[in-house]
Amino acid sequence: MPKKVIIDCDPGIDDAVALCLALFDPRLEVLAITAVEGNATASHSSRNVQALLERFDPPRYPRLGVAESPDGAPLHELDHFYGIDGLRDCGFSVSMLQNQHPADKVICDVVRSDPGNVTIISLGPKTNLARALKRDPKISGMIREIVMVGGSIGGVGNVTACAEFNMYYDPPAAQTVFDSPTTKTLIPLDVTEQVVFSLDFLNELPNETTRVGKLLREVLPVSFRLHRQRIGLEGIHLHDPVAVMAVLHPELFQTEEMHGQVDVGEGAARGYSVFDRRCFPSSRPNMDVATGVDVSSVRAEILRGLKYAGQESSGQES
Ligand code: RIB
Ligand code: CA
Repeated sequence: MPKKVIIDCDPGIDDAVALCLALFDPRLEVLAITAVEGNATASHSSRNVQALLERFDPPRYPRLGVAESPDGAPLHELDHFYGIDGLRDCGFSVSMLQNQHPADKVICDVVRSDPGNVTIISLGPKTNLARALKRDPKISGMIREIVMVGGSIGGVGNVTACAEFNMYYDPPAAQTVFDSPTTKTLIPLDVTEQVVFSLDFLNELPNETTRVGKLLREVLPVSFRLHRQRIGLEGIHLHDPVAVMAVLHPELFQTEEMHGQVDVGEGAARGYSVFDRRCFPSSRPNMDVATGVDVSSVRAEILRGLKYAGQESSGQES
């Protein structure tokens, strides 16, 4: 029985790879994809989700939810890692946005359509999840689990010295999700940054005659250049696909129960995620946090999933 999921994302090149894995994997039934502002503006993120779906043309089409900007987006223009359009100006054409339902409403409707059986995979800032929990507080007990990318246990950030991007972009939303009683698993930078793909990865992608292979070859090479130029890494991180693997292969991850919270101030510590790992923490744990990962197995499973997606997307668009 495939696991029913909603994917909340801010494509974003690593989000695009995660969508490709999830949309073709028979172990997952993607009921909805909801766009959130983060790597790209709300409108670009919404258009990117639709454009990627049109390009992938998966066997089953999910419902779509469109993004709306968070109330407290970063004041200064963020140096967008993936460019303003979020996909490094790949300029994907997209037909007019269809069915422009707000992401938080789609999340509430889909969770309520099958209480207790829908997992939310959160790959971007937590804006939509927080709005959904505020729109319909009762869904916190109906969501099977939230598996989310974000935070840093060791206190080293990727968008500031101490803040990870998804926390930084909308700290109050992240805190709202952390405070919810929903079963949650966090996949922090400490784990996602262990899974690095070298340039050989480009030679292992599905053939460019497949829809998936063609798209990945359009977006991934620039990611290698970005990682080299911006962080001096001879390779790329793919944070969001690691979270998809945490849903498909939880046995490849070590987790610990922790109490997490986020700095919601506007100072240097904005978005800093604090985890109480003392022997006698002052607050009860509110989530499981991934603390370790079988790097080689996760990398191999991501490659295997992409190859499968390539096979399933060969030939003309269906
Ligand atoms: O910090 C990494 C996370 O922020 C990833 O999900 C990336 O896509 C961005 O959303
Ligand atoms: Ca993301």
